[in-house]
Amino acid sequence: MADRKERPAGKGKDYSYRLKRMREHGLKPPIGMSEQAGERPEADFALDCGWGRLVFGQTFENAAGLVDILRGEQPDQRDIAVYIRNPHVLLAAAPQELFLDPSHTYRLDLNSYRPSKRQPSGFFIRRLTSRADAEEVNRIYASRGMVEVPPDFFWEKRDARTITYFVAEDERSGEILGTVTGIDHARAFNDPENGSSLWCLAVDQQARHPGVGEALTRRLAELFAARGCAFMDLSVLHDNEQAIALYEKLGFRRSPYFSVKRKNPINEQLFTGCEDDEGLNPMPASSHARPAGAAFMSR
Ligand SMILES: CC(C)(COP(=O)(O)OP(=O)(O)OC[C@H]1O[C@@H](n2cnc3c(N)ncnc32)[C@H](O)[C@@H]1OP(=O)(O)O)[C@@H](O)C(=O)NCCC(=O)NCCS
Repeated sequence: MADRKERPAGKGKDYSYRLKRMREHGLKPPIGMSEQAGERPEADFALDCGWGRLVFGQTFENAAGLVDILRGEQPDQRDIAVYIRNPHVLLAAAPQELFLDPSHTYRLDLNSYRPSKRQPSGFFIRRLTSRADAEEVNRIYASRGMVEVPPDFFWEKRDARTITYFVAEDERSGEILGTVTGIDHARAFNDPENGSSLWCLAVDQQARHPGVGEALTRRLAELFAARGCAFMDLSVLHDNEQAIALYEKLGFRRSPYFSVKRKNPINEQLFTGCEDDEGLNPMPASSHARPAGAAFMSR
């Protein structure tokens, strides 16, 4: 057995440095997902989505930086920190202010995804193109108890490279039946994993056509697959059985990432377990409506 005293000088210092790096890297993407030359991901990246910011945990060096940015959440907004691989470390840094969102992260591998042979019947999917579309999207969010987005925000983002809004339109009546939001991570922050994500999937409860949610999800997956994205992720409340059934049917699988949020009035039901404030909650669930972050968020 080696005698401790015989170790070369400085060994202890090297080891503590390695431990520190291992701890810090717990917030980063898995090994093998390193950045490509010349395409450094943006550091400390957060994307304004109208309802709040999506804070990409993998772009932060440590928990302190994440806590700082979450402390900057604006009133009536619901920020969400995603891709948190070590939520216990982040929560330990601000246990009174943050909570672990009770949502699962699901991932669709776009390399193996196959489009459906069946086409939508009675409706079609297109991009959001007018202020009237934006108002209809908010009507659907409101009807599902999801947090609304200022219509001007949709309008300003309609040609944005990073955020894509699709709507489902009834072929005969022209009514908007559903909506989904997509985020291209490579365009957002030079994501070395070349990912994408789906948010705010919602279908009008009055829609008579089956398959609207499926068609919106598929359309987004096909857009990102055509761009060469590796995967499409989403976050869904653990008890949203209807949505989970849809995602699993389409081939989404659970992924070991977690989401963390700031305790605020919108999120209250999620961290107190209280059922009284349903209307304030921003993420859709199975039986009770929740906010618009649908697929990756709750508010
Ligand atoms: C979840 C939601 C988007 C599904 O949209 P939809 O248009 O009703 O669903 P579709 O008709 O496309 O159904 C596709 C699949 O979803 C699942 N599904 C849909 N409705 C379901 C129900 N009532 N019970 C169980 N599974 C259901 C099924 O797997 C279905 O496939 P199948 O018909 O072959 O069985 C919609 O119910 C909704 O807007 N919910 C509120 C908002 C929400 O929860 N969004 C998701 C947040 S992550």
